[in-house]
Amino acid sequence: MKYLSASIIMGAALAASCASSNGSFTLNQPSDTLTIVNINHAPKYAILPIEEEQPEAQVMLNGTPMDVRLAVNKVDYTVPFPLHAGAEKDSLVIKNLARNAVAWKHIELADTFDTANREKFRPIYHHTPAYGWMNDANGLVYKDGEYHLYFQYNPYGSKWGNMHWGHSVSKDLVHWTHEQPAIARDTMGHIFSGSCVVDHNNTAGFGKDAIIAFYTSHKNLPGNHQRQQQCIAYSLDNGRTYTKYEGNPVLTPFDGLENFRDPKVFWYAPQNKWVMIVSADKNMRFYESKDLKKWSYMSEWGAGYGPQPNQFECPDFFEMAVDGNAQHKKWVMIVNINPGFAYGGSGTMYFVGQFDGHKFTCDTAPNDVKWLDWGKDHYATVTYSNTPGRIIAMPWMSNWQYANLTPTQQFRSQNALPRELKLYTADNGEQLVSAAPVKETEALRNKATDLGSFEGEKQAKIDNEGAFELDFDLQAGTADKCGVEIANAKGEKVSIYYDVKAQRFVMDRAESGITEFGNKVEPHQLDNAQSLKRYKEVTVNYHNAFALGTWAPVPVKADTHHVQIFVDKSSVELFVDGGRIAMTNLVFPNEPYNQLRFFGGKVANAKAYNIK
Ligand code: FRU
Repeated sequence: MKYLSASIIMGAALAASCASSNGSFTLNQPSDTLTIVNINHAPKYAILPIEEEQPEAQVMLNGTPMDVRLAVNKVDYTVPFPLHAGAEKDSLVIKNLARNAVAWKHIELADTFDTANREKFRPIYHHTPAYGWMNDANGLVYKDGEYHLYFQYNPYGSKWGNMHWGHSVSKDLVHWTHEQPAIARDTMGHIFSGSCVVDHNNTAGFGKDAIIAFYTSHKNLPGNHQRQQQCIAYSLDNGRTYTKYEGNPVLTPFDGLENFRDPKVFWYAPQNKWVMIVSADKNMRFYESKDLKKWSYMSEWGAGYGPQPNQFECPDFFEMAVDGNAQHKKWVMIVNINPGFAYGGSGTMYFVGQFDGHKFTCDTAPNDVKWLDWGKDHYATVTYSNTPGRIIAMPWMSNWQYANLTPTQQFRSQNALPRELKLYTADNGEQLVSAAPVKETEALRNKATDLGSFEGEKQAKIDNEGAFELDFDLQAGTADKCGVEIANAKGEKVSIYYDVKAQRFVMDRAESGITEFGNKVEPHQLDNAQSLKRYKEVTVNYHNAFALGTWAPVPVKADTHHVQIFVDKSSVELFVDGGRIAMTNLVFPNEPYNQLRFFGGKVANAKAYNIK
């Protein structure tokens, strides 16, 4: 396949023309901020050159301008912009890119786009988009043997923007296939987060077993204002393509609230109706519907709950058996907040209580905050619909404090491992949610290295490329702290240990590798006093909002704790006692970690599994 760039004649409204088997184009630049790219015999894509630190230019094909950081001085990478493939004539309108920008020399036409991995931090077994930016998991739904993972996606660059629902599919929650984006940004706005249901009884009239997606349409308005309203789209081909409902929006805020987003919809069988929860600034609003199109307000819950101030986002809500007892069930409300997390930035909290079909009543006081995961990189976590008997959560593995700055380019952001949630009773009588890696992760295990049972110090090398699982039983020894350091030959390390006196599990990534991100990670002054205190208690070499340690209290005391650690190219996830503690942290080691140093405790049945 041949690529061809056009040469441009600057100045007047004309340009050079070029031809190839991939079509040809001319650039028409009537003014400094407007260019028309006239394309003959359009191939599949215009390949657009990006420079990440530039402001956004606008590129328009079908009436919806997309914001693209087109290269001004240098090209960092390229993205494919789909054209009307096969059309005799096609044209792109590009606004707000100066005539002397280097992008004009680098635009190409092509029928293919190379997605081969170029990133050393690309995970081996965690989901990432092939290219472009990703944040929240959206529309998680299981149907006909497939788990759909939609996600907040920018196909036109690796920073946040142009929200689409990207799409990947898996049969087992751990091996994913990339699909075309399912729902694209349109003239109503960005396609923000939301949920999906399977309409088994065709209540909406789109078709039996249609998958129906609920998303927030977000539009920026003048004067720093925004409009957020709830919309639906339906799929009759098992989630591959969606048709936006012509009656959109289906729900607007009755009081003009500007932060009104991330609809979660579920079937409430006792009253034969659908329920929608929408995050409404620092509150959650509940609505009901019989047909998924007309929604009536029922109640609200949440004002004053959790750390203050905060912003509620991405609600989820489900019923769970307490300690596995199907006769004793409680409702769990997931509230993602940003900012306000215990370690700064964004995090996922939950509340346990009752639901009567109209109103949620929380069992605990507003300031009684429970975190679903104690690491710094676990956000916008929501669960799969249509998985009877299992509650499966899918976190986005980043933090809004630095999500746009992490040291990757071809793609940015990944999902943490999917987790199965359970409700159990802790030592102090509280009902807590555990989050264990789904059992399907066992299928990832490759070669096992038996590290045996031992006391005190032990070093081991593991033969892999930085993707492995480590499992062991841990008992306190004579030292105050016991655990394991996961390191590379450069001395970069993550220290994971049990602080016996404080009854905490700690993960310290202060010396884990790249922690500066070009010195742009916000300094500690911007963290809140509470989070600063928490991480200074455990961090060896704290110097910014990334280089820190996180810790979790032990909820059920025991002589022996079971420890499971998942290491990938740029993440470490800790699960203690089947997910009673979950702690998820990004890391960017300059070389893969392949050394272990156990210290201070009695370790039994230690095994390392390579993951390929
Ligand atoms: C959470 C969030 C959502 C919103 C989406 C936009 O991370 O801010 O509230 O729908 O991201 O991408």
